[in-house]
Amino acid sequence: MEVLGIDVGGSGIKGAPVNIETGELLQERYRIETPQPATPEAVGNTIKKLVDHFEWNGKVGVGFPAAVQNGAVKTASNIDKSWIGVPINTFLSKKTGCEVHVANDADAAGMAEVKFGGGKDQKGVVILLTIGTGIGTVLFLDGKLFPNTELGHLEFKNTTIEGYAADSVRKKEDLSWKDWGKRFNKVLKHFEQMFYPELIIIGGGVSKKMERFKAQIDINTKLIPAELLNEAGIIGAAAFANE
Ligand code: BGC
Repeated sequence: MEVLGIDVGGSGIKGAPVNIETGELLQERYRIETPQPATPEAVGNTIKKLVDHFEWNGKVGVGFPAAVQNGAVKTASNIDKSWIGVPINTFLSKKTGCEVHVANDADAAGMAEVKFGGGKDQKGVVILLTIGTGIGTVLFLDGKLFPNTELGHLEFKNTTIEGYAADSVRKKEDLSWKDWGKRFNKVLKHFEQMFYPELIIIGGGVSKKMERFKAQIDINTKLIPAELLNEAGIIGAAAFANE
């Protein structure tokens, strides 16, 4: 079965049709800059452009950077505050004329990794962190997802985990990969001591740069970049739409 997967990020909105049995992208992904401010109207119109680009009229799965519960947006840290309370499945279905299902972006990326990537068949606790504009988190126990964990908003080092170690913070504070890596290591240690995971997977743009900060990481847990790299969000959003 084919589903159009879309990943809404702080800087770009990306999509591609996905074969949800194999996790493969069926066409080259298409990316549009995230409109600013990222209001429901503006993001909805951008998603419609992606749907039109692929001349799509089937099911659409969207990974969205907020807690999404029962089809409604609950939080808005890196998107416009006017999203809070929006019944996003209905809203985007109306905008696009397609059947749209929305999940938290980290939950979607995690789903892809556990179904098709480095987390496949992993028993016990798996944590996936998406590092980008924000920090998204998802927990799995024996492959079963615990949704909307939002651990990036835990208080940490006089700020939050996200405020301390997001990739946007690395850029804003002009941190070297070494300095950022030290911060990230502290975050990983914190998660390690809270959850005793078997595996931690790094997703988001940073997953392609692991060589640059690997030397700063000294946790006991196995740490791997998302096998599906930046595409995990798109693939997982598509897979989620069919759950
Ligand atoms: C949001 C999460 C999201 C993460 C990554 C956070 O600021 O609260 O819902 O998963 O950013 O985009």
